[in-house]
Amino acid sequence: MAVDLLLGLQWGDEGKGKIVDVLTKDYDIIARFQGGPNAGHTLVFDGIKHVLHTIPSGIFHKNAINLIGNGVVIDPVIFKKELEKLSKFNLDIKRKLFISRKAHLILPTHRLLDAASEANKGKAKIGSTLKGIGPTYMDKTGRNGIRVGDLEMDNWKEKYRALANKHIGLLDFYKVKIEFDLDELEIEFFSALKVLKTLTFIDSEEYLHQAQKVGKTILAEGAQGSLLDIDFGTYPFVTSSNTTAAGACTGLGVAPGKIKEVFGIFKAYTTRVGSGPFPTELFDTYGETMGRVGNEFGATTGRPRRCGWLDLVALKYAVQINGVTKLIMMKSDVLSGFKKLKVCTAYNYKGETIYHLPYNIEEENIKPIYTELNGWNEDLTKMTQASQLPKTLNDYIAFLEKELEVPIKIVSVGPDRTQTIHR
Ligand code: GDP
Ligand code: IMO
Ligand code: MG
Repeated sequence: MAVDLLLGLQWGDEGKGKIVDVLTKDYDIIARFQGGPNAGHTLVFDGIKHVLHTIPSGIFHKNAINLIGNGVVIDPVIFKKELEKLSKFNLDIKRKLFISRKAHLILPTHRLLDAASEANKGKAKIGSTLKGIGPTYMDKTGRNGIRVGDLEMDNWKEKYRALANKHIGLLDFYKVKIEFDLDELEIEFFSALKVLKTLTFIDSEEYLHQAQKVGKTILAEGAQGSLLDIDFGTYPFVTSSNTTAAGACTGLGVAPGKIKEVFGIFKAYTTRVGSGPFPTELFDTYGETMGRVGNEFGATTGRPRRCGWLDLVALKYAVQINGVTKLIMMKSDVLSGFKKLKVCTAYNYKGETIYHLPYNIEEENIKPIYTELNGWNEDLTKMTQASQLPKTLNDYIAFLEKELEVPIKIVSVGPDRTQTIHR
């Protein structure tokens, strides 16, 4: 039985949470494969908005099992808060949510190191969500990390103490100092761990292997986006995990040959939170309108998202790296009323026209070359059928499909679960 993947093709916040929720009815298991509480996945239904950080976006469905895979990093403190927010919805979380023993834990001192690293970078800061993601993945690859399964061992507190002490020592290296009260942080951390330990820890790769054997359907949920991938993103302005398709193999223990559909999700325009290059970024009323109408504020940090035209060069790159088989276009409704829409189809790179993402995409080197298309005026938010979509939107879709050579199978026309058009 195959595993399908859903992942973001831009700089995150494409609408992964919404679409995973929409697709969950077709799956037995929803499995997050990387990232941590830097993610904010928004779901809207029955007039309520939910934001998930660590918990997979299939959690509201009665029968789906939700799995936090080995590739994810978990902050028990944030996880506890997430559970508390969900408690009033009677979701039977203990039956439906499993956690991989091999997932790494974010310690309070990882968050301090993140803050110190960013503060000391000054203007060159990444714009991290400051959730401790970078330092935790550094400890993972440095073979120093603490995993969920360690909590079942007798000696884990010694391991914790040794690592936390090391972190405190590392903080000394930084010139700009971070204020903190370790005792307070640890009280909060240990109390949250008690809650984490009430959930079921499993050998998730084995669980998924057995599930596949008996024909269960699995959807792997990505976090962040392809341009934030540690290898293929706009380094160093990226996150610390592989957000691309290969990350699902290592983040869940799924063999490459088992992956069937790769759903690639993108906004009809582009956004980015945090620092780093963004060739099609707009600083005019078009960008301001996208931000306002699209309510472009980070679901985790509340920071305003930078907005710009769709970048097809970058999108093509993401489609290739991930082997996307089906595309999903979000937020088409936000562009209603734009007379003309621009799509970047090439770059002027140091005076030369190029059609790929170069190594160095600093703003001063690169100028987008645009193709102009007609916009649409209709309010899309009440539409439910592909046949209702305006001609100019269909032309926009056809143009993208031709350029990307992959069909756009879902068009999203609003944040709600129901505002989803299948084609
Ligand atoms: P994720 O991180 O990929 O899950 O995306 P986020 O939840 O961070 O950001 C997507 C935002 O867009 C959320 O506020 C969603 O509620 C909202 N959203 C999703 N799809 C649509 C859509 O088609 N139209 C509009 N207007 N908003 C949408
Ligand atoms: P979802 O899953 C958008 C960005 C941060 C920063 C960079 C590094 O909701 O799409 P980190 O906290 O990982 O050290 O931050 O990555 N970033 C995201 N941007 N959506 C996300 O997740 C993000 N997770 C991290 O803003 O620029
Ligand atoms: Mg998000």
